[in-house]
Amino acid sequence: MPHFACIVGARPNFMKMAPLLRALDAQPGARTTLIHTGQHYDANLSDVFFEQLGMRRPDVALEVGSGKQGAQTAKVLERIEGVIEDFSTEGRPFDRMVVVGDVNSTLAAALAAVKLGVPVAHVEAGLRSFDRTMPEEINRIMTDAISDQLYVSEPVGMENLRREGRSEDQLFHVGNVMIDTLLHLLPAARDRNLAGEYGLPRRQYAVVTLHRPSNVDSPERLGELVDCLRTIARKWKLAFPIHPRTEKKLQEFGQLPRLQEAGVKLLPPLGYLEFVSLVAASRAVITDSGGIQEETTVLGVPCLTLRPNTERPITTELGTNTLVDGPLGRLVELVDDVDASRYKEGRIPEFWDGRAAERIARLLCRSS
Ligand code: UD1
Repeated sequence: MPHFACIVGARPNFMKMAPLLRALDAQPGARTTLIHTGQHYDANLSDVFFEQLGMRRPDVALEVGSGKQGAQTAKVLERIEGVIEDFSTEGRPFDRMVVVGDVNSTLAAALAAVKLGVPVAHVEAGLRSFDRTMPEEINRIMTDAISDQLYVSEPVGMENLRREGRSEDQLFHVGNVMIDTLLHLLPAARDRNLAGEYGLPRRQYAVVTLHRPSNVDSPERLGELVDCLRTIARKWKLAFPIHPRTEKKLQEFGQLPRLQEAGVKLLPPLGYLEFVSLVAASRAVITDSGGIQEETTVLGVPCLTLRPNTERPITTELGTNTLVDGPLGRLVELVDDVDASRYKEGRIPEFWDGRAAERIARLLCRSS
């Protein structure tokens, strides 16, 4: 009877783990222990996702909280090590650890496990932005290097891992678990009709999300971005759910009033259903997120990504995503293209079909 330790830590982990847990729990004889590191702890970055995704409360909650990159990673490493040892002493050892995505908790948990002899499966493996200034890129490279099963969401992930010398029997192109959740909850999200609630006219507003240090931590860059959003707000209504990190910076750099003056609808971080509801009825999304590039591709909503690179290139090659690198005038041009219906239409990548977690669960159980 294989026993899987399933790790979540930060917001983007929850929608990836929910379908995996469901699929693993449906496999005869499989046991799962859900461990929440507590990297995200605010109710609206964590609790609401458990409720809306129908995921059980964590079996173990480590409550590591915020901190600098090193301190946060170290706390997770230390506490997960303790959990693995406790379960082993109590006669309930883990046969395998399952980690998802690229947040600090992903790497720290994988490292603790592999050093104690617990093999690690990484879901969403092989993605590379080739930008080592991003903490997530370091997390991806390191997590993949110490995992012996690599579950991949798009073909380039297989190529990257092969180039890094990984053997074929460790690689599985299975599709995208985040899209499993999107397809599962899309009807409920559409019913939620958040745009109607906020008085936003269908397909005539854009959704904005920003949280990457490279966009929000410097006053110059954040100021330029706000200038650009003020220009776009003359054309479209903008709805901006603000991540806590971004809110702090907007306040610190005196930019919040400039957004308010321009009529931008400033919202707290939204629950999953609320966010998907808002995006699904929008004209476009302006973001620096990773996962939203994938969700918009499946929803067929234009996505303008404020980053010089993406670890998810299929969303630009096949999907509705475009990277905005360099001067922000390009963002305004792209908004004009969308507005004039000159923007490309996308297609949905292979295996982004709502069944990725089932494929992974079968493979996990077969090999454990
Ligand atoms: C993390 C992930 C990022 C992911 C993002 C989604 C890493 C390196 N980054 O970034 O990949 O896209 O989550 O949200 O793991 N804070 C709160 N409440 C919380 C959590 C955080 O107020 O519940 C504030 C704290 O001031 C904290 C800051 O947000 O210092 C940043 O949180 P942190 O978890 O370090 O990184 P994120 O920017 O959220």
